Amino acid sequence: MSQSNGLQCRVCEERGSSCLFAQHTKTRECENDDDICYSWFYRSGSDVGVQRTCLSVKSPEYNLIKGLIADVIKYRLNVELDSIRQAGTWKSERIISTSQSSHIKIENSKDDLLNFCANNYLGLANNREIITAAKQALDDYGSGLSSVRFICGTQTIHKQLEQRISKFHQREDAILYISCFDANAGIFETLLKEQDYIISDELNHASIIDGIRLCKAKRLRYKHKDMSDLELKLKESFNENNDNIIRLIATDGVFSMDGTIAPLPDIKCLADKYHALVFVDECHATGFFGRTGRGTEEYFNMIGTIDIINSTLGKALGGAAGGYTTGSKALIDLLRQRSRPYLFSNTLPPPIVASAIKAIDLIENNPSLPGRVAENASYFRTELQNLGFKILGDNHPICPVMLGDARLASRFADEMLKRGIYVIGFSYPVVPKDRARIRVQISAAHSKIDLQQCIQAFAEVGRQLEVIK
Ligand SMILES: Cc1ncc(COP(=O)(O)O)c(C=O)c1O
Repeated sequence: MSQSNGLQCRVCEERGSSCLFAQHTKTRECENDDDICYSWFYRSGSDVGVQRTCLSVKSPEYNLIKGLIADVIKYRLNVELDSIRQAGTWKSERIISTSQSSHIKIENSKDDLLNFCANNYLGLANNREIITAAKQALDDYGSGLSSVRFICGTQTIHKQLEQRISKFHQREDAILYISCFDANAGIFETLLKEQDYIISDELNHASIIDGIRLCKAKRLRYKHKDMSDLELKLKESFNENNDNIIRLIATDGVFSMDGTIAPLPDIKCLADKYHALVFVDECHATGFFGRTGRGTEEYFNMIGTIDIINSTLGKALGGAAGGYTTGSKALIDLLRQRSRPYLFSNTLPPPIVASAIKAIDLIENNPSLPGRVAENASYFRTELQNLGFKILGDNHPICPVMLGDARLASRFADEMLKRGIYVIGFSYPVVPKDRARIRVQISAAHSKIDLQQCIQAFAEVGRQLEVIK
């Protein structure tokens, strides 16, 4: 292809190889959608360089380049899609035709399914009082704010929910996000600078990992729940120059894939020893874990001691969507000023805000709700272990039944579905390779009969697929 064809780029108005527009891009279309600015690397002997040209839509090279680009994309996508299929890690989505509940229907099937894979820990996702509150908020406040919070997106109910959340966790203030993924994306970059350290459990949720990627602090990772390794990493962060440094330990309260619980008392002890702050993601604890549902802190009888809590409204607290950070007033004030997912994304819709307020009402007024899910989890875990299954984790409603092989996990889930039990096989990249599992999620909404049906199906499929004797 010749370097200079004398055509003028319609964006930078330069001719031939001096086209400026192409400098920052490999290939871009010109503004009028006709011409294309194209740059490529060349090698001639030991001479390597970059050349650019602008091709007119009328030139034969134009179609060649267009075709090449389309082929590369098609080729790359297909190779990747095929490799996912071949690895047996393809994730299909079953389409639910009812509301979220312990009993659901899926499309093209008349039969009721028993649902054991939602994070609907308290069974509030289709609670009548929550639905009524959401409808009322729709009437009173509309469907949404068409705005971010600081421009014109803050209503009385947003402030009410933030107050209810901070009171629930016994903190000074709280800030809402459209999801906990966003809360995790916003916290580290806002709080930590280059000189700081973020020290993170290796099994933390993807959203914590991504949030950490966005910040400039030095990153250290400790082995899952390994306190000696955490101490080593804290020592590494502890040098002569300790002025004006934040060390932040980040952990899930409960780990979503393993059902394990972070040893918060030990973490807090080390944090105090090495002048570190502690961040805990409580998505799989808020509302149902601990005696009154205050989460992992309450489970360990240490409410109010963790510096920063992020959590979701999309699991136990009504199951709609939304997330939050709760902590000191200064921290929340700073997040309102600086946190990018808060500043640049729309307000939480009023019906969702009202659902979450009602969910907190229900939890505060029914202290037996969290106990119900703990009792169900304990029963299910014991029965499955007695059958010979290996279940990971502590006594938490996340019950990962370990199978190892991705295809086996997927086949196991299909066989369970034939018996009316909806569970999902988890495989790479959601969990490490060769650590595939069925993650059973227990809810307060499951009756004893529901649990027994699920246990019976596990026994049958486990024997059929020779996982148990
Ligand atoms: C531990 C953890 N953190 C964060 C999130 C993200 O929560 P959300 O759905 O509110 O974005 C999840 C969701 O699966 C989670 O399990």
